Amino acid sequence: MAILVTGGAGYIGSHTCVELLIAGFEIVVVDNLSNSNINVLNRIRELTKKDFKFYEVDLIDKSSLEDVFIENSIEAVIHFAGLKAVGESVKIPLHYYHNNITGTLFLCELMEKYDIKKLVFSSSATVYGVPINVPITEDFLLSATNPYGRTKLMIEEILRDLYIQNRDWNIVILRYFNPIGAHPSGRLGEDPNGLPNNLMPYITQVGIGKLEELRVFGNDYPTSDGTGVRDYIHVVDLALGHLKALEKVMSTSGIDAYNLGTGRGYSVLEVVEAFEKASGRKVPYTVVERRPGDIPICYADVNKAKKELGWAATRGIGDMCLDSWQWQIKNPNGYEDFKHISKIKMN
Ligand code: NAD
Ligand code: UFG
Repeated sequence: MAILVTGGAGYIGSHTCVELLIAGFEIVVVDNLSNSNINVLNRIRELTKKDFKFYEVDLIDKSSLEDVFIENSIEAVIHFAGLKAVGESVKIPLHYYHNNITGTLFLCELMEKYDIKKLVFSSSATVYGVPINVPITEDFLLSATNPYGRTKLMIEEILRDLYIQNRDWNIVILRYFNPIGAHPSGRLGEDPNGLPNNLMPYITQVGIGKLEELRVFGNDYPTSDGTGVRDYIHVVDLALGHLKALEKVMSTSGIDAYNLGTGRGYSVLEVVEAFEKASGRKVPYTVVERRPGDIPICYADVNKAKKELGWAATRGIGDMCLDSWQWQIKNPNGYEDFKHISKIKMN
């Protein structure tokens, strides 16, 4: 019996595949490689010394997806596959709705057809919209401020309806806060296309000299130093959270949502400082206007995950920065080839 991992070639999915294989699970990975690189798969194999089946399949292609269910004996599904760029989702909303929602509908329809009712779903802290206060507990009012967030919100609702219709379903919704960091080996990490949207990949590219300076989006927020505060979580801690979620869906039926964060917020400038300490590099920055849609402060109450999943993050901001940096310097061009490596000065 195998665990089907959709989006397993992506940033969080690849780290989770490693932890699943190390824990002894058999896995089958489905990914259309729309935001990931085929090289990731061999790195997962290399790190774990284990093999697994990979299908380059789009979830929207239901008949090819069905082949995966026909050809494998699947016990549970961890569903990462989805598009995730907030700004892009505003520009091409229909594509986001189609990819994320239709993809999930087809997946769930096939799970029903093949009587597989154990699902772990990647949601996001974005479903809390503009939180009224912090720390954020799972019972906060949900809302969304952009099409990407609405896909997560809608999928959560779809999954709740699925459970109401058939109480045999076992579903865990994981609401990630801000995943950063990389595998400590430096072999897996986040590989954004083009200019990074998110803070940590932007900082590491400034650190290595690919980008000139960080633009800090606003320093007039009601926070200790005026810059935005987020709950950054190491991607390996996040991956391990999926193993705990899997344990839960294997043992009980129901539907439940859990925050995966550290429960502690860091400002942009605190992250810059932690990165400089971990890497020994300076990160020049300029403060610019606030980024539209950004919220001032966001951090999780993580007690529910601790109590009910037996999971807590153990890696601190120093490890997150160090591992992000190691990944950046060992893979200056991400998963692309290494032919430019000698041009980049490293010390
Ligand atoms: P990622 O883009 O690195 O990984 C997603 C993977 O899904 C990619 O490999 C992509 O090729 C694949 N994919 C997308 N659409 C597909 C489709 N229709 N069929 C098959 N494969 C498809 O992103 P990630 O950071 O690893 O995120 C994984 C999940 O976690 C996503 O659902 C994302 O929305 C969610 N999430 C991410 C963050 C974050 O900051 N990284 C925060 C909260 C939630
Ligand atoms: N920031 C900068 N400069 C940058 C990039 C970011 O100052 O170049 C600041 C932002 O203003 C924010 C903080 O750094 O205060 C973190 O920004 P990110 O873009 O890294 O992360 P967000 O919290 O904005 O968004 C992330 C994901 C979303 C997800 C959300 C909640 O990108 O997809 O977390 O989970 F919805």
